[in-house]
Amino acid sequence: MNFNLSEEQQLIQKTARDFANDHLRPGVIDRDENAQFPAEQVKMMGELGFMGMMIPEEYGGAGIDSLSYCIALEEIAKADASATVIMSVNNSLVCQLLYLYGSEKQKQKYLTKLASGEWLGAFSLSEPQSGSDASNMRTFAKRDGNQYIINGTKNWVTSGISSDIVLLMCLTEKDVGSKGISAFIVEKGFDGLSIGKKENKLGIRGSDTCELYLEDCKVPAENIIGKEGQGFKIALGTLDGGRIGIATQALGIAAESLNRSIQYANERKQFGKTIGEFGAIQSKLAQMAIHVDAARLLIHRAAQLKDEGKPFGKEAAMAKNFASKVAMDASTQCVQIFGGYGYIRGTGVERLMRDAKITQIYEGTSEIQELIIARSLLRRERK
Ligand code: CAA
Repeated sequence: MNFNLSEEQQLIQKTARDFANDHLRPGVIDRDENAQFPAEQVKMMGELGFMGMMIPEEYGGAGIDSLSYCIALEEIAKADASATVIMSVNNSLVCQLLYLYGSEKQKQKYLTKLASGEWLGAFSLSEPQSGSDASNMRTFAKRDGNQYIINGTKNWVTSGISSDIVLLMCLTEKDVGSKGISAFIVEKGFDGLSIGKKENKLGIRGSDTCELYLEDCKVPAENIIGKEGQGFKIALGTLDGGRIGIATQALGIAAESLNRSIQYANERKQFGKTIGEFGAIQSKLAQMAIHVDAARLLIHRAAQLKDEGKPFGKEAAMAKNFASKVAMDASTQCVQIFGGYGYIRGTGVERLMRDAKITQIYEGTSEIQELIIARSLLRRERK
């Protein structure tokens, strides 16, 4: 494993950091307060090539590897976790799914627009009764000539309001479990698709999350991805990569928590000295630094395995499980170091804590990541 960034990776890191500092940090507190989607910034991210980073240039992407993508995503996450999840879902879930499993026609029609940032995509797996138990869905697509008629309710859809298309998983056959699930490309303008209420969230408030209602929604048959019944494997295979993105979102939040804590420890004086001179604060900073570095190493290992075309699902689950805990712990310690100033709106420190929490929940809870890791270990032992 090479611990040094290549010249190209350093440039990507600098570009992402400069963009984050110039265009995401200003206004991030207001966007959080008002639950305002960073539309202008997302457009600029598209222009910088950040919305389809791992997609070859022929399909509108930047054609770089997963590791470089993580390096850029971490910089975005330090400034604005909401912009990060919008970027992560479009890159890791939407573009990757279409690139790996879409037909050439689907790639030409949809991927080129999504990878270039002209369009924004959403990924819809969950339903009110099926979260961790993802295959327990009810939304049903009935074939009717050269189209499918879809009925049902999907929820927790990230970018569900602002996106142009949704990659939607639903049943095409009942009573056969996950083998009855198929994946579809649903355009926002399709007849019968409507957007439900926008969720009022604890954190990542700049990203929109909503329910989607499908009432006799008509989707052309050519918009099925792969074949009928392949949707669950397509979704889970894609989520393995998505989890590297969410782990990186958590890493960025943790790294920012550490940076803010160091800065404050050097400034804030109590009992005649800076609080950084007290052992209690030093211990917190040291533990945060160890955990941030360890999270980054786990993430980069998973990304490197992915880039090498090797199995990486267990490693992605490890990275997400660990990095999301590190984000929660580091942001909580950051608030503790800031004391009363950390607890009020305006310093931006409490936002880190609120933003961190979701990384332990979406794209598979921490408990589901443990289940994936344990299943993989037990399978290996049985061989
Ligand atoms: N890749 C490809 N195929 C996979 C797979 C993977 N990673 N994991 C499992 N499969 C296959 C299995 O091989 C199996 O196929 P066969 O039947 O042919 O053997 C099939 O899928 C079913 O697998 P399981 O029996 O393991 O399925 P399960 O019902 O036990 O569920 C689970 C497994 C890991 C718990 C899964 O349900 C899961 O990941 N749950 C969490 C859901 C989740 O992450 N949701 C995120 C929502 S999207 C989101 O949050 C995005 C956002 O907006 C930010």
